Amino acid sequence: MSLAGRELILGVTGSIAAYKAVYLLRELTRLGAAVTVCLTEHARAFVGPLTFRTLSGRPVLTDLFDPQSPDAVEHVALAERAHAVVVAPATANLLAKAAHGIADDFLTTLLLAARGPVVIAPAMDGGMWEHPAVRANVATLRARGVTVLEPDAGALASGLSGRGRFPEVDAVIEALERALVPARDLAGDRVLVTAGPTREPIDPVRYISNRSSGKMGYGLAAAALRRGAEVTLISGPTALTPPPGAVFVPVQTAEEMREAVLQHLPPATIVIKAAAVADYRAKQAAASKIKGKRDLTLELTPNPDILAEVAARRTGAFIVGFAAETHDVAAHARAKLEGKGIDLLVANDVSQRGIGFDAEDNEVLLLDRWGGTRALPRMPKTEVADAILSHIVALRAGAPAKKTHA
Ligand code: CTP
Repeated sequence: MSLAGRELILGVTGSIAAYKAVYLLRELTRLGAAVTVCLTEHARAFVGPLTFRTLSGRPVLTDLFDPQSPDAVEHVALAERAHAVVVAPATANLLAKAAHGIADDFLTTLLLAARGPVVIAPAMDGGMWEHPAVRANVATLRARGVTVLEPDAGALASGLSGRGRFPEVDAVIEALERALVPARDLAGDRVLVTAGPTREPIDPVRYISNRSSGKMGYGLAAAALRRGAEVTLISGPTALTPPPGAVFVPVQTAEEMREAVLQHLPPATIVIKAAAVADYRAKQAAASKIKGKRDLTLELTPNPDILAEVAARRTGAFIVGFAAETHDVAAHARAKLEGKGIDLLVANDVSQRGIGFDAEDNEVLLLDRWGGTRALPRMPKTEVADAILSHIVALRAGAPAKKTHA
């Protein structure tokens, strides 16, 4: 993989780590990339444009509305042509603006104009990286297919220590190379993904549901799109925005999800059931709001097992299920894989903090029907998504007997 001949935009924001962007720029140009640097107003307070201009050999973009700046429209065209945009370092403010599509300066305008991949290397102080607002913005960006690197842990400029340090220059370059050369290994595939929880009504205002956020499924849909697949995303209620380009089918209940899945199943070549389908629903949902403070007995009835039904139809699609386990993960997962008759099971241990349900990261075991087991290390769900897809591609390539034995 090479950066030679690549047209890149390097956005730099107002973090004390802005000086590290100088090293990044030097390395990018050394690797042969043509780089246009865009500094936010605050970045200029940390490192002057002259350094970047000298190293990039190009004028530095500083402010969209500066009457001195060259034709802004031309530079938006540059963003459209750029092979990738990398923002390093990115402040919490930049993450917030990018997540919400705010374009109030040159860099954020370029981010909206960019057609290629976007890689963001955050750097910030203290507990900011952990703040729920920042976590939500990072999740939004990742669900949209933006690569947001994890900052490094260690000493911070304020004297505090924590996660917030600008990642190593090599890590930024590696992420950029990966984003620039996305494997188009799913071109021609039609991927059906289910995501999120389902909601099973008890009465008109109450429901049974679970803690699924939908991040894993949305991450898979975005990754499959990047890799060239046509994607249908069938999702229960989540707070996420579906990745652009996916056919999006919102549903509420398991029965609605079942119907949508069966309807979209025939052309699918890969089915990934990341949804946390509620196992039970109220046998009889009340037509009006249940009143009173008395004991209430709710009769539940099992929902249809959509995954097992899909597998039983033997359409020839590669079928992937998910399992949430709290103990003896591998043994339970193997039994589930065989019980449902699917090709691959992605199992996670939901008893561990910080992974699985409603978390940003995941750490999963991949068990396949041919007896293989692979443990993936803990990583952001966006990366888990790509690792799962790579595993599917590898299994398909190495398992030509699958169709006859399905
Ligand atoms: N699934 C489904 N339809 C259901 C229940 C689950 O399609 N009614 C799918 C999920 O999308 C997921 C997998 O099956 O891919 C999870 O299997 P399940 O048997 O529900 O696993 P757990 O919830 O972990 O089950 P258990 O309580 O038996 O451990």
